[in-house]
Amino acid sequence: MLKGMNNFVYYNPTRIFFGKNTIIPNLKTLIPKKSNILVTYGGGSIFRNGVFDQVTKGLGEGGHKIFEYGGITPNPRYKHAMEAVDICRKKNIDFLLSVGGGSVLDLTKFISLSSKYEGNDPWDLIAKIGSPEVKVPKSVIPIGDVLTLPATGSEANCGFVVTRETPKGNIKIGARYESVFPKFSILDPETTYSLPWKQTVNGIVDAFVHCVEFYMNADDGHPLPDRYTEGVMETLIDASYRVKKNKKDYVARADIFWASTLALNGMSGCGIYEPDGVTHHIGHEITALTEADHGLTLACVLPGVWRHQFEYKKEKLAMFAERVWKIRSGNVEQKARKAIDCTIKWLNDIGMPTRLSACGKILPSNYRAMGEHAVGFWSKVMGTKGIGQKRNVGVKE
Ligand code: NZQ
Ligand code: ZN
Repeated sequence: MLKGMNNFVYYNPTRIFFGKNTIIPNLKTLIPKKSNILVTYGGGSIFRNGVFDQVTKGLGEGGHKIFEYGGITPNPRYKHAMEAVDICRKKNIDFLLSVGGGSVLDLTKFISLSSKYEGNDPWDLIAKIGSPEVKVPKSVIPIGDVLTLPATGSEANCGFVVTRETPKGNIKIGARYESVFPKFSILDPETTYSLPWKQTVNGIVDAFVHCVEFYMNADDGHPLPDRYTEGVMETLIDASYRVKKNKKDYVARADIFWASTLALNGMSGCGIYEPDGVTHHIGHEITALTEADHGLTLACVLPGVWRHQFEYKKEKLAMFAERVWKIRSGNVEQKARKAIDCTIKWLNDIGMPTRLSACGKILPSNYRAMGEHAVGFWSKVMGTKGIGQKRNVGVKE
């Protein structure tokens, strides 16, 4: 029986500029004149692929004062955010422009909030999210971005994930605050031609798993959200093969870019009763331990999550099999198993491993702490019942 749509509130204030040659003309006008801008970036890809030149050209013509903070790493670090906060305070930065992938943008969101945080340690904004002792800043430094890696959806959401190094190991956690929705995001698919294949695939898989976690829940079906997400998943799969053949296939690059945005701009979750963030919760714990790429962890965890939750998800897996993989024969169980097989085959076809051994050294002695953190922290932040949820996972709490 169809459950239909749950009540929901949808809010998304980010203005998107999508397409070829959108960086220079838009940067000229989007940021108020006389702003002190801090341009944030990563390890240097933007210098090699010409994106930085386009950014400086656009900003230069707008008459702004520009400062830079570079060297932000993948799985961005708390300590780097604190260095950038120092610059923001000393230079009276009043606009943050993130140029690069999701890690740069995520850290820029945290820099924006932290610069205005009046408590002792901005880490509390994430680690103690929701606690009355955390005084959330009423205003933040506005953010815009030029995104060069389609994956996270960070360009159209208010979430961010930060890693803090501690003597006991890394902690990778995140939060969501409406105040850090980007004011604008510029998405030029041509900037993604320079992505190493591994990062292209990481991004496709990240977006795909964002889809899966709204779609593949234990609900009885929501006609419109299901169709929306099936369209995004099918696009990602189809475009991945096209871009594998020709890395400069603009149509495929553009499809992947917009599909990634649509996968986590909040739209696919509208009306869904029970999103399931299990794969992400476990993936983050693996990255904290081994530094494995985010997309890689998801691909290696997903098949196991599906097999483990098979009884609870088989109807939805069968629907996914029929509608996305076009599997017409077999009963529900057979179709559902085929869906898992087809997904693994696709991931392997595009060069993505699907076995945990690809994620580095994870010892049995790590399992308990990882599991407890995943259940305790991530389920709370993401608003998902996740791992502890009997219906989703098939285990008793
Ligand atoms: O650092 P540079 O030199 O720029 O190189 C980056 C980096 O090494 C490179 N790259 C990016 N664009 C490029 C490029 N190389 C060549 N050409 C380009 N056009 O790619 C590498 C990876 O970049 P990164 O930003 O780390 O990747 P991604 O965008 O996948 O971001 C991953 C981070 O986002 C978080 C993840 O946990 C992870 O920390 N997530 C954020 C979410 C959100 N805000 O909503 C949701 C996601 O589920 C995810 O958790
Ligand atoms: Zn993700």
